[in-house]
Amino acid sequence: MTSGGGQGGHGPGAALWGGRFEGEADPLFREFNDSLRFDYRLARHDIEGSIAWARALGRAGVLTDGEVESLTTSLGELRERVKENPRLPLESREEDIHSWIERELIKKLGPLGKKLHTGRSRNDQVATDLHLYMDEACGERTLEMAGLARALVDLAEREVETVMPGYTHLQRAQPILFAHWALAYANMLSRDRARLDDLRRRLSDEKGCPLGSAALAGTTYPIDRHALADDLRCRAPSPNSLDAVGSRDCVAELLSAAAICAVNLSRMAEDLILYTTQEFALVEMDDSVTSGSSLMPQKKNPDAMELIRGKAGRIVGALTGLLVTSKGLPLAYNKDLQEDKEGLFDAMDNLSMCLRMATRVIAGVKVNREACREAALGGYSNATELADYLVGKGIPFRDAHELTGRIVRRAIELKARLEALPLDELKKFSDVIGPDVVGALTLEAGLARREVFGGTGPGAVRDAIATARQRL
Ligand code: ARG
Repeated sequence: MTSGGGQGGHGPGAALWGGRFEGEADPLFREFNDSLRFDYRLARHDIEGSIAWARALGRAGVLTDGEVESLTTSLGELRERVKENPRLPLESREEDIHSWIERELIKKLGPLGKKLHTGRSRNDQVATDLHLYMDEACGERTLEMAGLARALVDLAEREVETVMPGYTHLQRAQPILFAHWALAYANMLSRDRARLDDLRRRLSDEKGCPLGSAALAGTTYPIDRHALADDLRCRAPSPNSLDAVGSRDCVAELLSAAAICAVNLSRMAEDLILYTTQEFALVEMDDSVTSGSSLMPQKKNPDAMELIRGKAGRIVGALTGLLVTSKGLPLAYNKDLQEDKEGLFDAMDNLSMCLRMATRVIAGVKVNREACREAALGGYSNATELADYLVGKGIPFRDAHELTGRIVRRAIELKARLEALPLDELKKFSDVIGPDVVGALTLEAGLARREVFGGTGPGAVRDAIATARQRL
């Protein structure tokens, strides 16, 4: 076989490494081994790394200025072609994206195309591609997280006066503002973003740019790795070549940040799924993000939220998969590491969808304010207020708790809310209780007593909205 055909089998001129091999590759082996069908997505990153490498070879005196110019121009053209048609590499039968790009260069430039791989290995190449991909993915996910956080802060602003029941153990616990609920998730998202920022900094600094590590021991050419790292927007080159080509902990870190975010989203989804049931009926979702049943005409199903809840599973799965794949791998590069990419891409694609979908859902959420208030009034969720009222009258908290528990039991017998119990009924439990108890038991009174920083008091929540807005 001649070069340029992209056949990729064993044997001279077929695979890029064919020299040592005599026979043809087993087709099943090709199918098993080749990674082009998924790593074609790294074309842009591989081209960027290759342009930087050509320049580095030029600075090292390995290539002439003219050669660098030709290589970078051709790589630039290739980048345009890929931009136009990202699936272009899939039209070939190359082993992986690195081979595809090299083959395209050779087609275009002949022998010069064969010079680009001087002093480089696919091992530091793929590590560099991943590095660039992850940096980009962090940037994209950060923007999507900010979009969702913004939608949540907007929701908080709309519902800053809506009182709803807060739950613990999924039992009505104490009244909260709906805005407080929305801001809880905005806060989680802000930590999700911080984790990505942190990773980006670590990629650039401690991890550093892997290029120049070659196969495992470092390149033999006098490459200025600091300038090379700089060219690839890293603050430093990776400090150890074995580590640089053999580690995927940063991929695990990104997957971990993704898994944590996905789990946070799944909890938000579950809250909304519950709140939209007829049993809770606190919230309604916009028709545009729900679906009907093929059998039951009355149904309006929260599919978007259910899928967000469900997709957390596969993203956690990607993290688990990579950790298990990495466990016990000897240094440095092993082909096992090729297994890092599909999970990573899948996790990023799905997290992206979840974040964008959740943004739409939150933007269209309609809160049933009356139902929220009714629910907050029920379930004796002002019992803590009664206990605190008794404490205010000089009764030790433990006794006040006991007393209130007995009053709640009596109220349940009478099928009445605490604030509806007649004063003489209340006085049977304690004569410190006076007519002022009614005011102490209103929703507004309960909220107003929680103006502590971070609490659900209306003032505290307004401050929190302002802070969250600023953070965006
Ligand atoms: N497709 C490979 C991967 O994703 C690229 C690196 C191959 N290196 C090698 N020595 N075979 O890991």
